[in-house]
Amino acid sequence: MALQTIAVIGGTGPQGKGLGLRFAQHGHHVLLGSRSPDRAEAAAAEINAKSPAAPRAQGGTNSDVAAAADLVLLAIPFAGHDEIVGCLTKALAGKIVISCVNPLAFDRSGPYALGVDHGSAAEAAAVLAPESQVVGAFHHVSASALWSDRPSLHHEDVLVCGDHEEAKSVVQELARSVTGRRGIDAGPLRMARQLEPWTAVLISINKRYKTQSGVRISGIDGSH
Ligand SMILES: NC(=O)c1ccc[n+]([C@@H]2O[C@H](COP(=O)([O-])OP(=O)(O)OC[C@H]3O[C@@H](n4cnc5c(N)ncnc54)[C@H](OP(=O)(O)O)[C@@H]3O)[C@@H](O)[C@H]2O)c1
Repeated sequence: MALQTIAVIGGTGPQGKGLGLRFAQHGHHVLLGSRSPDRAEAAAAEINAKSPAAPRAQGGTNSDVAAAADLVLLAIPFAGHDEIVGCLTKALAGKIVISCVNPLAFDRSGPYALGVDHGSAAEAAAVLAPESQVVGAFHHVSASALWSDRPSLHHEDVLVCGDHEEAKSVVQELARSVTGRRGIDAGPLRMARQLEPWTAVLISINKRYKTQSGVRISGIDGSH
């Protein structure tokens, strides 16, 4: 795919930093966003330290990085989601916006899915940013796997959902930077209602088996 400037909203957290690392290692220019520019610069320095031959990450405020990017990843907790996406509506207009947000909570029995207005976090983002092309992806790849030294997460698939076919195709290609394979088209954006809570199942399996589970879809060859 053509190299992109990708902003990560919430880029100081493990998921945003992990995906930012993979995107940077595949040649994309990565802008990590934060409520604090200092924290964002520190996170960008961590990415660049892991890829010293080609430092491609920079930090900034969430609004500055969203405005400067071609493509924007939302990697914020669901608790802050509506407020932050609502503030960025203008900066996100006309852009592909990827949501990997999983609206989950935890109690003594483990993780569980939260009820969400509009059906899912990705659909809520589409309502808050109506001039953007929102795509759901990267819900099931764990931050620790992303930050690991494994060259590619070949054993996992990235499931991609969205209502804009071209935007979805761009994100399917971007998934190669994580798994080495094109992401799988899981259907329209409303499939995020299934994809987001599924992460609770993976976390539960991880706890039971002390592992790092992921998703791999059978029945699809590499040429899709
Ligand atoms: N962790 C995983 O393995 C994983 C896997 C798949 C999907 N996800 C999803 O990816 C998203 C990010 O996960 P994470 O573990 O990286 O989350 P996190 O560490 O809790 O948060 C990421 C960043 O968001 C910012 N933030 C926190 N609360 C905020 C608020 N109320 N308003 C605005 N910004 C806020 C913080 O950055 P600043 O303080 O610097 O602004 C924080 O570093 C979540 O929705 C999660 O469900 C996570």
